[in-house]
Amino acid sequence: MDSLSRRGARSDASLAKAFLPLTQASHPDGRIYHDPAVLEREKQTIFGRDWLCIGRAEEVAEPGDYKALRLVGQPVLLVRRPDGKVVAYSNTCLHRGVEIASGEGNAKEFTCPYHGWLYGLDGQLLGAAHMRDSEGFDRKTCRLPELPCENFQGWLFVSLNRTPEPFADYIAEFAEKFGYIDMEPMRLGIQRDIPLNCNWKLMVENFIDFYHIGVLHKDTIGRYMKTTDVPYETRKRGQVFINEYDAGSHTQSGEVFVERIPALKDKPARFSQAGVITPNVNFFVRPDYVMLYSSWPVDADTMVMKQFIVFPRHIVESPRFPEIKAQFLVMSDKILGEDFAMVESLQNASKATHFVPGRMSRLEKGVQHFILHNLERIYGAEPPLTAAAE
Ligand code: FES
Repeated sequence: MDSLSRRGARSDASLAKAFLPLTQASHPDGRIYHDPAVLEREKQTIFGRDWLCIGRAEEVAEPGDYKALRLVGQPVLLVRRPDGKVVAYSNTCLHRGVEIASGEGNAKEFTCPYHGWLYGLDGQLLGAAHMRDSEGFDRKTCRLPELPCENFQGWLFVSLNRTPEPFADYIAEFAEKFGYIDMEPMRLGIQRDIPLNCNWKLMVENFIDFYHIGVLHKDTIGRYMKTTDVPYETRKRGQVFINEYDAGSHTQSGEVFVERIPALKDKPARFSQAGVITPNVNFFVRPDYVMLYSSWPVDADTMVMKQFIVFPRHIVESPRFPEIKAQFLVMSDKILGEDFAMVESLQNASKATHFVPGRMSRLEKGVQHFILHNLERIYGAEPPLTAAAE
Protein backbone atom coordinates (compact mmCIF):
# COMPACT_ATOMS: atom_id res chain seq x y z
CA MET A 1 0.00 0.00 0.00
CA ASP A 2 1.18 3.52 -0.78
CA SER A 3 2.38 5.03 2.49
CA LEU A 4 0.10 8.02 1.88
CA SER A 5 -3.06 6.05 1.16
CA ARG A 6 -6.07 7.29 3.11
CA ARG A 7 -7.95 4.00 2.80
CA GLY A 8 -7.20 3.05 6.37
CA ALA A 9 -4.31 1.16 7.91
CA ARG A 10 -6.32 -2.05 8.22
CA SER A 11 -6.32 -2.46 4.44
CA ASP A 12 -2.54 -3.04 4.70
CA ALA A 13 -1.62 -6.46 6.09
CA SER A 14 1.61 -5.21 7.69
CA LEU A 15 -0.33 -2.60 9.65
CA ALA A 16 -3.65 -4.42 10.12
CA LYS A 17 -2.13 -6.94 12.51
CA ALA A 18 -1.65 -4.12 15.03
CA PHE A 19 -5.46 -3.70 15.16
CA LEU A 20 -6.14 -7.23 16.32
CA PRO A 21 -7.14 -7.75 19.96
CA LEU A 22 -4.07 -7.26 22.13
CA THR A 23 -3.62 -10.98 22.76
CA GLN A 24 -3.44 -11.57 18.98
CA ALA A 25 -1.80 -8.32 17.83
CA SER A 26 1.66 -7.67 16.40
CA HIS A 27 3.61 -4.46 16.15
CA PRO A 28 3.16 -2.55 12.87
CA ASP A 29 5.60 -2.28 10.02
CA GLY A 30 8.62 -0.11 10.75
CA ARG A 31 7.96 2.36 7.96
CA ILE A 32 5.66 4.37 10.21
CA TYR A 33 8.83 5.25 12.12
CA HIS A 34 11.12 6.18 9.26
CA ASP A 35 9.11 7.11 6.16
CA PRO A 36 9.41 10.87 5.45
CA ALA A 37 6.01 10.74 3.72
CA VAL A 38 4.45 9.50 6.96
CA LEU A 39 5.99 12.39 8.86
CA GLU A 40 4.70 14.88 6.31
CA ARG A 41 1.23 13.41 6.78
CA GLU A 42 1.61 13.65 10.57
CA LYS A 43 2.55 17.31 10.26
CA GLN A 44 -0.69 17.91 8.37
CA THR A 45 -3.14 15.72 10.23
CA ILE A 46 -1.70 15.78 13.74
CA PHE A 47 0.71 18.63 14.51
CA GLY A 48 -1.02 21.04 12.14
CA ARG A 49 -4.42 20.49 13.73
CA ASP A 50 -4.03 19.78 17.42
CA TRP A 51 -3.38 21.86 20.48
CA LEU A 52 0.32 21.54 21.39
CA CYS A 53 1.78 22.03 24.86
CA ILE A 54 4.77 24.33 24.45
CA GLY A 55 5.83 25.02 28.03
CA ARG A 56 5.07 27.08 31.10
CA ALA A 57 3.66 30.57 31.46
CA GLU A 58 6.50 31.55 33.82
CA GLU A 59 8.90 31.21 30.89
CA VAL A 60 7.44 34.53 29.72
CA ALA A 61 6.68 35.92 33.17
CA GLU A 62 6.90 39.69 32.64
CA PRO A 63 5.28 42.03 30.12
CA GLY A 64 7.50 42.11 27.06
CA ASP A 65 9.01 38.67 27.73
CA TYR A 66 9.15 36.64 24.55
CA LYS A 67 10.31 33.30 23.30
CA ALA A 68 10.80 32.30 19.66
CA LEU A 69 10.00 28.69 18.82
CA ARG A 70 9.84 26.47 15.79
CA LEU A 71 7.02 23.95 16.14
CA VAL A 72 7.55 21.18 13.59
CA GLY A 73 9.35 23.82 11.54
CA GLN A 74 6.67 26.50 11.93
CA PRO A 75 8.05 29.76 13.36
CA VAL A 76 6.06 30.89 16.42
CA LEU A 77 6.65 33.90 18.65
CA LEU A 78 5.32 33.69 22.19
CA VAL A 79 4.88 37.08 23.86
CA ARG A 80 3.48 38.37 27.15
CA ARG A 81 1.71 41.57 26.25
CA PRO A 82 1.60 44.64 28.52
CA ASP A 83 -1.92 43.64 29.62
CA GLY A 84 -0.47 40.37 31.00
CA LYS A 85 -1.96 38.07 28.40
CA VAL A 86 0.33 35.54 26.74
CA VAL A 87 -0.19 35.43 22.99
CA ALA A 88 1.37 33.56 20.07
CA TYR A 89 2.08 34.98 16.64
CA SER A 90 3.36 33.50 13.47
CA ASN A 91 6.99 34.63 13.72
CA THR A 92 7.07 35.69 10.10
CA CYS A 93 7.70 39.26 9.04
CA LEU A 94 4.90 40.66 6.94
CA HIS A 95 7.43 41.70 4.30
CA ARG A 96 9.28 38.54 3.26
CA GLY A 97 8.77 36.25 6.23
CA VAL A 98 12.03 36.47 8.16
CA GLU A 99 11.62 35.64 11.86
CA ILE A 100 11.28 38.99 13.58
CA ALA A 101 12.64 37.65 16.87
CA SER A 102 14.93 34.79 17.84
CA GLY A 103 15.86 33.18 21.13
CA GLU A 104 14.20 34.68 24.16
CA GLY A 105 14.33 37.90 26.12
CA ASN A 106 12.36 41.02 26.93
CA ALA A 107 11.40 43.61 24.33
CA LYS A 108 9.26 46.72 23.94
CA GLU A 109 8.92 46.08 20.22
CA PHE A 110 10.38 43.82 17.57
CA THR A 111 12.47 44.95 14.62
CA CYS A 112 12.83 42.59 11.69
CA PRO A 113 16.56 42.03 11.23
CA TYR A 114 16.35 42.02 7.43
CA HIS A 115 14.85 45.34 6.30
CA GLY A 116 13.82 46.76 9.65
CA TRP A 117 10.03 46.58 9.74
CA LEU A 118 8.94 47.39 13.28
CA TYR A 119 6.21 45.60 15.29
CA GLY A 120 4.50 46.27 18.61
CA LEU A 121 3.95 43.62 21.27
CA ASP A 122 0.37 43.43 20.01
CA GLY A 123 1.61 42.32 16.59
CA GLN A 124 0.75 45.64 14.94
CA LEU A 125 3.13 46.86 12.24
CA LEU A 126 4.41 50.20 13.55
CA GLY A 127 6.95 51.16 10.92
CA ALA A 128 8.16 50.16 7.48
CA ALA A 129 10.85 52.32 5.88
CA HIS A 130 10.87 53.24 2.19
CA MET A 131 7.33 52.03 1.59
CA ARG A 132 5.75 55.42 0.84
CA ASP A 133 5.77 54.74 -2.92
CA SER A 134 4.20 51.30 -2.56
CA GLU A 135 0.71 52.00 -3.79
CA GLY A 136 -2.12 50.91 -1.54
CA PHE A 137 0.21 49.82 1.24
CA ASP A 138 -1.16 50.89 4.64
CA ARG A 139 0.90 49.69 7.58
CA LYS A 140 -1.98 50.40 9.95
CA THR A 141 -3.88 47.46 8.46
CA CYS A 142 -0.94 45.09 8.94
CA ARG A 143 -0.72 42.82 11.96
CA LEU A 144 1.14 39.55 12.62
CA PRO A 145 -1.16 36.51 12.33
CA GLU A 146 -2.17 35.46 15.84
CA LEU A 147 -2.35 31.77 16.72
CA PRO A 148 -4.68 30.24 19.32
CA CYS A 149 -2.91 30.20 22.70
CA GLU A 150 -4.36 29.01 26.01
CA ASN A 151 -3.16 28.48 29.57
CA PHE A 152 -4.20 25.55 31.74
CA GLN A 153 -2.76 25.74 35.28
CA GLY A 154 0.40 27.37 33.96
CA TRP A 155 0.85 25.04 30.99
CA LEU A 156 0.74 26.91 27.67
CA PHE A 157 -0.91 25.37 24.63
CA VAL A 158 -0.66 26.72 21.10
CA SER A 159 -2.31 25.47 17.94
CA LEU A 160 -0.91 25.88 14.44
CA ASN A 161 -4.50 25.54 13.30
CA ARG A 162 -6.17 28.96 13.49
CA THR A 163 -9.54 27.28 14.00
CA PRO A 164 -8.79 24.29 16.28
CA GLU A 165 -11.34 22.39 18.31
CA PRO A 166 -12.50 24.37 21.37
CA PHE A 167 -9.74 24.33 23.97
CA ALA A 168 -12.23 23.37 26.68
CA ASP A 169 -13.01 20.17 24.77
CA TYR A 170 -9.35 19.37 24.15
CA ILE A 171 -8.22 19.95 27.73
CA ALA A 172 -11.17 18.25 29.44
CA GLU A 173 -9.48 14.87 29.97
CA PHE A 174 -6.21 16.40 31.15
CA ALA A 175 -8.20 18.55 33.58
CA GLU A 176 -10.23 15.55 34.72
CA LYS A 177 -7.13 13.49 35.52
CA PHE A 178 -4.60 16.09 36.66
CA GLY A 179 -6.50 19.29 37.40
CA TYR A 180 -6.79 18.39 41.10
CA ILE A 181 -3.04 19.02 41.50
CA ASP A 182 -3.49 22.80 41.16
CA MET A 183 -0.31 23.43 39.13
CA GLU A 184 -0.82 27.16 38.55
CA PRO A 185 1.23 28.17 41.61
CA MET A 186 4.00 25.66 40.86
CA ARG A 187 7.16 26.66 39.05
CA LEU A 188 9.47 25.26 36.44
CA GLY A 189 12.60 23.95 38.13
CA ILE A 190 14.21 22.09 35.23
CA GLN A 191 13.81 22.50 31.47
CA ARG A 192 16.04 20.82 28.93
CA ASP A 193 15.88 20.01 25.23
CA ILE A 194 17.40 16.61 24.41
CA PRO A 195 18.05 15.57 20.78
CA LEU A 196 17.45 11.90 20.01
CA ASN A 197 18.06 9.68 17.01
CA CYS A 198 14.60 8.20 16.80
CA ASN A 199 11.14 8.91 15.49
CA TRP A 200 9.05 11.08 17.83
CA LYS A 201 6.40 8.37 18.36
CA LEU A 202 8.90 5.89 19.78
CA MET A 203 9.68 8.11 22.75
CA VAL A 204 5.98 8.64 23.55
CA GLU A 205 5.42 4.88 23.31
CA ASN A 206 8.45 4.14 25.47
CA PHE A 207 7.11 6.26 28.31
CA ILE A 208 3.91 4.20 28.51
CA ASP A 209 5.66 0.87 27.95
CA PHE A 210 5.71 -0.52 31.48
CA TYR A 211 6.63 -3.95 30.05
CA HIS A 212 10.30 -2.92 30.04
CA ILE A 213 10.48 -1.35 33.49
CA GLY A 214 11.51 -4.41 35.49
CA VAL A 215 14.16 -5.36 32.94
CA LEU A 216 15.72 -2.18 31.59
CA HIS A 217 15.35 -0.16 34.79
CA LYS A 218 16.00 -2.98 37.25
CA ASP A 219 18.56 -0.86 39.16
CA THR A 220 16.39 2.26 39.41
CA ILE A 221 12.60 2.53 39.30
CA GLY A 222 12.31 -1.14 38.36
CA ARG A 223 13.47 -2.14 41.84
CA TYR A 224 10.07 -1.48 43.36
CA MET A 225 7.57 -0.77 40.57
CA LYS A 226 4.97 -3.46 40.08
CA THR A 227 4.38 -3.74 36.36
CA THR A 228 2.68 -7.09 35.93
CA ASP A 229 -0.83 -5.66 36.18
CA VAL A 230 -0.81 -2.07 34.92
CA PRO A 231 -4.28 -0.44 35.11
CA TYR A 232 -4.23 1.22 31.69
CA GLU A 233 -7.22 3.42 30.92
CA THR A 234 -7.56 4.32 27.25
CA ARG A 235 -9.64 7.11 25.75
CA LYS A 236 -11.04 7.86 22.33
CA ARG A 237 -8.68 10.66 21.35
CA GLY A 238 -5.62 8.46 21.94
CA GLN A 239 -5.11 9.39 25.57
CA VAL A 240 -3.71 6.71 27.86
CA PHE A 241 -3.92 7.08 31.64
CA ILE A 242 -2.34 5.07 34.43
CA ASN A 243 -4.19 6.42 37.40
CA GLU A 244 -2.05 5.14 40.24
CA TYR A 245 1.11 3.09 40.54
CA ASP A 246 4.01 2.65 42.91
CA ALA A 247 7.19 4.32 41.62
CA GLY A 248 8.29 7.21 43.83
CA SER A 249 10.47 10.24 43.35
CA HIS A 250 13.72 10.32 41.42
CA THR A 251 15.86 9.98 44.54
CA GLN A 252 18.05 7.01 45.39
CA SER A 253 15.52 5.89 48.02
CA GLY A 254 12.37 6.75 46.08
CA GLU A 255 11.36 9.07 48.92
CA VAL A 256 10.32 12.68 48.32
CA PHE A 257 12.99 15.37 48.04
CA VAL A 258 11.61 17.84 50.55
CA GLU A 259 7.86 17.90 50.90
CA ARG A 260 4.78 16.91 49.03
CA ILE A 261 2.61 18.91 46.73
CA PRO A 262 -0.31 19.96 48.98
CA ALA A 263 -2.94 18.16 46.86
CA LEU A 264 -0.93 14.93 47.13
CA LYS A 265 -0.20 14.94 50.85
CA ASP A 266 -2.65 12.11 51.58
CA LYS A 267 -1.46 9.87 48.76
CA PRO A 268 0.73 6.78 49.35
CA ALA A 269 4.45 7.32 49.90
CA ARG A 270 5.48 6.46 46.33
CA PHE A 271 2.27 7.59 44.63
CA SER A 272 2.69 7.96 40.91
CA GLN A 273 0.34 8.74 38.06
CA ALA A 274 0.94 9.01 34.33
CA GLY A 275 -0.78 9.87 31.10
CA VAL A 276 -0.32 10.43 27.39
CA ILE A 277 -1.81 13.72 26.31
CA THR A 278 -2.00 13.43 22.55
CA PRO A 279 -0.46 14.20 20.28
CA ASN A 280 3.02 14.21 21.84
CA VAL A 281 3.03 14.64 25.63
CA ASN A 282 3.83 12.21 28.39
CA PHE A 283 2.82 13.50 31.80
CA PHE A 284 3.96 12.05 35.13
CA VAL A 285 3.02 12.87 38.71
CA ARG A 286 5.19 12.16 41.72
CA PRO A 287 4.36 13.14 45.31
CA ASP A 288 6.58 16.22 45.16
CA TYR A 289 6.78 17.27 41.49
CA VAL A 290 5.28 16.75 38.07
CA MET A 291 7.11 15.95 34.83
CA LEU A 292 6.05 16.77 31.30
CA TYR A 293 7.92 15.38 28.33
CA SER A 294 7.00 16.46 24.81
CA SER A 295 8.39 14.71 21.74
CA TRP A 296 8.91 16.84 18.61
CA PRO A 297 9.90 15.47 15.22
CA VAL A 298 12.91 17.02 13.51
CA ASP A 299 12.78 14.60 10.60
CA ALA A 300 11.42 11.06 10.40
CA ASP A 301 14.53 9.63 12.11
CA THR A 302 15.29 12.29 14.70
CA MET A 303 13.47 14.28 17.34
CA VAL A 304 13.91 16.65 20.25
CA MET A 305 12.50 15.72 23.64
CA LYS A 306 11.57 18.66 25.83
CA GLN A 307 11.73 17.95 29.54
CA PHE A 308 9.78 20.16 31.97
CA ILE A 309 9.98 19.43 35.72
CA VAL A 310 7.70 21.54 37.91
CA PHE A 311 7.91 21.79 41.71
CA PRO A 312 6.03 23.81 44.34
CA ARG A 313 7.23 27.40 43.94
CA HIS A 314 8.90 27.72 47.33
CA ILE A 315 10.98 24.61 46.62
CA VAL A 316 12.29 26.04 43.35
CA GLU A 317 13.10 29.32 45.13
CA SER A 318 14.73 27.71 48.18
CA PRO A 319 18.52 27.69 48.72
CA ARG A 320 18.36 23.89 48.64
CA PHE A 321 17.02 23.74 45.11
CA PRO A 322 20.40 23.40 43.33
CA GLU A 323 21.07 20.33 45.47
CA ILE A 324 17.58 18.92 44.74
CA LYS A 325 18.01 19.58 41.04
CA ALA A 326 21.41 17.87 40.95
CA GLN A 327 20.03 14.83 42.76
CA PHE A 328 17.03 14.66 40.45
CA LEU A 329 19.20 14.87 37.36
CA VAL A 330 21.52 12.06 38.48
CA MET A 331 18.61 9.65 38.74
CA SER A 332 16.66 11.09 35.80
CA ASP A 333 19.67 10.89 33.48
CA LYS A 334 20.35 7.30 34.48
CA ILE A 335 16.76 6.26 33.74
CA LEU A 336 16.46 8.32 30.56
CA GLY A 337 19.87 7.18 29.34
CA GLU A 338 18.64 3.59 29.52
CA ASP A 339 15.50 4.56 27.59
CA PHE A 340 17.39 6.55 24.96
CA ALA A 341 19.59 3.58 24.03
CA MET A 342 16.45 1.49 23.50
CA VAL A 343 14.48 3.96 21.38
CA GLU A 344 17.50 4.60 19.17
CA SER A 345 17.90 0.85 18.72
CA LEU A 346 14.18 0.59 17.88
CA GLN A 347 14.67 3.26 15.24
CA ASN A 348 17.50 1.31 13.68
CA ALA A 349 15.40 -1.86 13.75
CA SER A 350 12.60 -0.09 11.87
CA LYS A 351 14.83 -0.26 8.78
CA ALA A 352 16.60 -3.55 9.48
CA THR A 353 16.37 -5.96 6.56
CA HIS A 354 15.70 -9.08 8.58
CA PHE A 355 13.50 -7.70 11.36
CA VAL A 356 9.83 -8.66 11.30
CA PRO A 357 7.82 -6.84 14.00
CA GLY A 358 6.74 -9.29 16.68
CA ARG A 359 3.70 -10.03 18.81
CA MET A 360 2.49 -7.68 21.53
CA SER A 361 2.35 -8.52 25.22
CA ARG A 362 -0.73 -7.88 27.34
CA LEU A 363 1.45 -5.29 29.12
CA GLU A 364 1.51 -3.21 25.92
CA LYS A 365 -2.13 -2.14 26.03
CA GLY A 366 -1.22 1.54 26.29
CA VAL A 367 1.38 1.30 23.53
CA GLN A 368 -1.09 -0.41 21.20
CA HIS A 369 -3.72 2.25 21.87
CA PHE A 370 -1.31 5.07 21.00
CA ILE A 371 -0.09 3.26 17.87
CA LEU A 372 -3.62 2.66 16.59
CA HIS A 373 -4.65 6.23 17.28
CA ASN A 374 -1.76 7.49 15.17
CA LEU A 375 -2.29 4.95 12.39
CA GLU A 376 -5.84 6.16 12.09
CA ARG A 377 -4.75 9.76 11.89
CA ILE A 378 -2.05 8.99 9.34
CA TYR A 379 -3.97 6.61 7.10
CA GLY A 380 -7.55 7.74 7.61
CA ALA A 381 -10.57 6.68 9.58
CA GLU A 382 -10.94 3.00 10.21
CA PRO A 383 -14.14 1.00 10.02
CA PRO A 384 -15.43 0.27 13.51
CA LEU A 385 -13.88 -2.70 15.27
CA THR A 386 -15.97 -5.84 15.22
CA ALA A 387 -17.27 -7.11 18.53
CA ALA A 388 -14.73 -9.94 18.35
CA ALA A 389 -11.88 -7.49 17.76
CA GLU A 390 -12.92 -5.29 20.66
FE1 FES B 1 11.31 41.67 7.40
FE2 FES B 1 11.99 42.50 5.03
S1 FES B 1 11.74 40.45 5.68
S2 FES B 1 11.58 43.67 6.79
